[in-house]
Amino acid sequence: MTKKYTIVTYGCQMNEHDSEKMSWLLENMGYKPTENKNDANIIIYNTCIVRENAELKVYGQLGSLKDLKRKKPDLIIAVCGCMMQTETARNVVLDKYKHVDIIFGTSNIHKLPQLIDRHNQTGETIVDVVEDNREIVEDISSNRKYTFKAFVDIMYGCNNFCTYCIVPYTRGRERSRDPKSIIREIEQLAQDGCKEVTLLGQNVNSYGKTLDYHFTFADLLTEVNKIDGIERIRFMTSHPKDLSDDLIAAMAQLDKVCEHLHLPVQAGSSRILKAMNRKYTKEDYLKLVEKIKRAIPDIAITTDLIVGFPGETEEDFQETLDLVKRVRYDSAFTFLYSKREGTIAAKKENQVPDEVKHERFQRLLDTMYPIFYENNMKYQNKVVEVLVEEVSKNNKDILSGRTRTGKLVHFQGDKDLIGKFVSIKITEIKTFTLEGFIIQ
Ligand code: SAH
Ligand code: SF4
Ligand code: F3S
Repeated sequence: MTKKYTIVTYGCQMNEHDSEKMSWLLENMGYKPTENKNDANIIIYNTCIVRENAELKVYGQLGSLKDLKRKKPDLIIAVCGCMMQTETARNVVLDKYKHVDIIFGTSNIHKLPQLIDRHNQTGETIVDVVEDNREIVEDISSNRKYTFKAFVDIMYGCNNFCTYCIVPYTRGRERSRDPKSIIREIEQLAQDGCKEVTLLGQNVNSYGKTLDYHFTFADLLTEVNKIDGIERIRFMTSHPKDLSDDLIAAMAQLDKVCEHLHLPVQAGSSRILKAMNRKYTKEDYLKLVEKIKRAIPDIAITTDLIVGFPGETEEDFQETLDLVKRVRYDSAFTFLYSKREGTIAAKKENQVPDEVKHERFQRLLDTMYPIFYENNMKYQNKVVEVLVEEVSKNNKDILSGRTRTGKLVHFQGDKDLIGKFVSIKITEIKTFTLEGFIIQ
């Protein structure tokens, strides 16, 4: 009988891409995918620990599997990802969820087949986590979700130690992949029909710093831009402190680099930015945005914002509202500050009460949503190039895809168009999406 697997993924694109690698490894072992956990022979949770709610969801899920495991003792339950890179979360899983069979980390995904074998042979709980791995395992294949677009890791880890953030403790120190290996991977993707790549790293602007020779992120973009078949290049995430003039120039010049920049600001108050260890002020950020908009006039700028960092006063929060009104973001991920054990900010005494955080959060959304809508109004009656991505979940006749600027567009069409470029005339504007019809 064919063995089946389910991977449940939390967190960012890095984790999504790691799950694609695990899926490839499992399918090479003869496993087939299933959405239904009751049918699965192995269930893997690829976890995230960036905020508390991500962590709680995993514990909830693990708890709910106890019965299934009792009924199906051969079922393998594995937990990996950023949560397992911290000793505290690992111990919670080992102590409270004894039905978990395999625990592994973010740096030893390639060992999954061995870990499964070891568990099958011994019947024991296998724990394999490398706390501070500097090694890069190149060329792990992945079973990518789409053929026409792909995530490509260009670097791992983070050295920035923003005081609220746990990622440097889970993903280790920053290290860049060899550009030749990245280019080889993208050339292969292009040969297999990939048209859009998203280059991934916690801070892509510092790409190359750990290489033995001088090679920057702008150099990498220039090389990727030369690859035949690739038509769109995206990347994330950019740290404002490292966004160089060279990079802005490269973005403006290179035809395949999309007119979209995700530039997390986190907060508008320079005092809070300092406490966050972000290494730029509100004024630095605003100047940077101005420079980018001058170089690339049609660019869409998106961001991440944290509300309620320890010590944030109403005045500080007003600075955030002022900043979002001045930048006029196209979209934003907004988060309530979440205390993460082990980070500097978690030790601060002046934590903001939950109800204050929630109230500010709502005011931030109320300020930003009309701006998103007004920005989208610029697309009314325009014709845009869309890479068709999928059939809408709610309506089988409706397709969705994205513009170069990252806007999600809905339109009627046949599913054969998935993976192709179409021209869409925009007829309706929403806060988060655009609607239109195919003109070619
Ligand atoms: N490396 C990326 C972001 C990685 S985490 C960058 O620096 O831009 C994604 C986002 O989660 C961050 O931008 C931040 O807004 C948010 N985040 C990280 N830690 C958080 C915490 N403790 N509480 C709330 N949001 C947090
Ligand atoms: Fe976290 Fe800051 Fe690194 Fe981003 S740059 S991963 S927010 S420490
Ligand atoms: Fe990503 Fe969450 Fe880890 S945001 S890097 S999966 S802690």
